Amino acid sequence: MQALPGFRDFLPEDCARRNYIFARWRKVARRYGFLEWEGPPLEATELYKRKSGAEIVEQLFNFTDKGEREVALRPELTPTLARVVAAHEREFKKPLKWFSIGQFFRYEKQQRGRLREHFQLNCDIIGENDLAADVELVALSIDILRAFGFTEKDFVVRISDRGFWTDFFRDNKVPAERWDDLLQAIDKSARESREKTAAKMGELADPVFATLKSGGKNTKLEQLVEGLRARGLANFVAIDVGIVRGLAYYTGIVFEVFDRAGNLRAIAGGGRYDNLISQLSDGALSLPSLGFAMGDVVLRELINEIPRAHEAMRKAIASDSKIDIYVVIAKEQRRADALGQIQQLRDRGYRVDYPLTATKVARQFQAAEDLGARVALLYGDEWPQVKVKDMASGEQQLLAHENLITHIEPKLH
Ligand code: HAM
Repeated sequence: MQALPGFRDFLPEDCARRNYIFARWRKVARRYGFLEWEGPPLEATELYKRKSGAEIVEQLFNFTDKGEREVALRPELTPTLARVVAAHEREFKKPLKWFSIGQFFRYEKQQRGRLREHFQLNCDIIGENDLAADVELVALSIDILRAFGFTEKDFVVRISDRGFWTDFFRDNKVPAERWDDLLQAIDKSARESREKTAAKMGELADPVFATLKSGGKNTKLEQLVEGLRARGLANFVAIDVGIVRGLAYYTGIVFEVFDRAGNLRAIAGGGRYDNLISQLSDGALSLPSLGFAMGDVVLRELINEIPRAHEAMRKAIASDSKIDIYVVIAKEQRRADALGQIQQLRDRGYRVDYPLTATKVARQFQAAEDLGARVALLYGDEWPQVKVKDMASGEQQLLAHENLITHIEPKLH
């Protein structure tokens, strides 16, 4: 039996890489004052039908549960966030700054950077209209990637404004009911043939292509860049009105993060969705909102491509996977004494390992080395003294067992 297509098994090394990513996501989100929250992995299918847009609905893992409810594994977090905020907003001061790390499911065609499950970091700010929030959010996405060792040479945040296109449609007298389809066509234009995009756009094809080529201008986007310049982060962004995002609920500034080399799918994406909470609460509550999500799959690919980032990950994982102490049991009669000591050391928070069954001493020292122990303790003929070996220098010392902890603790800090 194998895992289903698009689903991953996480062997210990894969878990170590995943935890490395999660730790940096969490650390930088907290640096920005974001609080962690979580939603359920299963939601009513209706939530996505109403809120995410056609593309995501086609990709749902959905079924009828035993209570005849139409349910779906979550493909994204934003509709859940809007639902939760609509229900609990009075309990919190605005703006809310919330982040979450979780697994998401989309029935996509498996390809490089796209699987049927992936993990996302979501960061959202709820209840703030000012552009300062957009600047803060883009800065956060940049700083998260910087925490992996990436520089402005490795990735770029492409920023855009859906308002640019809605103004364009208005100027060109396009009826509002066509706007969504046109935005979808612009979103796909970088990945589809010119003919296919042109067919969807009809008479607007030429002016849209001309605008995409010339780049377009927008004061809001220029202010956003200035806000990042004040932080020394302007080199990480580029204005690109070709970015409109596939999801239906975005209303204003949107952005996507790409590798500079252009080899990979988007690493992250997000933007403003000022009407979503109002739509979900049937107009009872309206809160301006913005956020982004970063996926683990493309991020891992980029880490593998950039030697600096890869080396930083390798080092961090190597040092995190080491144990502190290996207890060598040279004489089985000493096992009980050794176990008493092991218990005490583990209670003090040290990572301690030892052989579960009688094992040759040379093999035990080999295990100590393989596991990266800094100190080995040998329980044998010397009892009630214990031999302490510093694994790096090879230096050995005999110590009375009751003095052991005071002696080895300084070596382990
Ligand atoms: P999204 O662009 O659909 O946005 O997904 C965000 C990121 O998740 C993508 O840039 C990509 O790295 C990753 N991702 C998405 N689908 C897959 C997949 N099938 N396999 C691997 N990685 C994937 C959203 O989900 C929005 N809800 C983000 C947001 C939060 N907007 C506001 N707040």
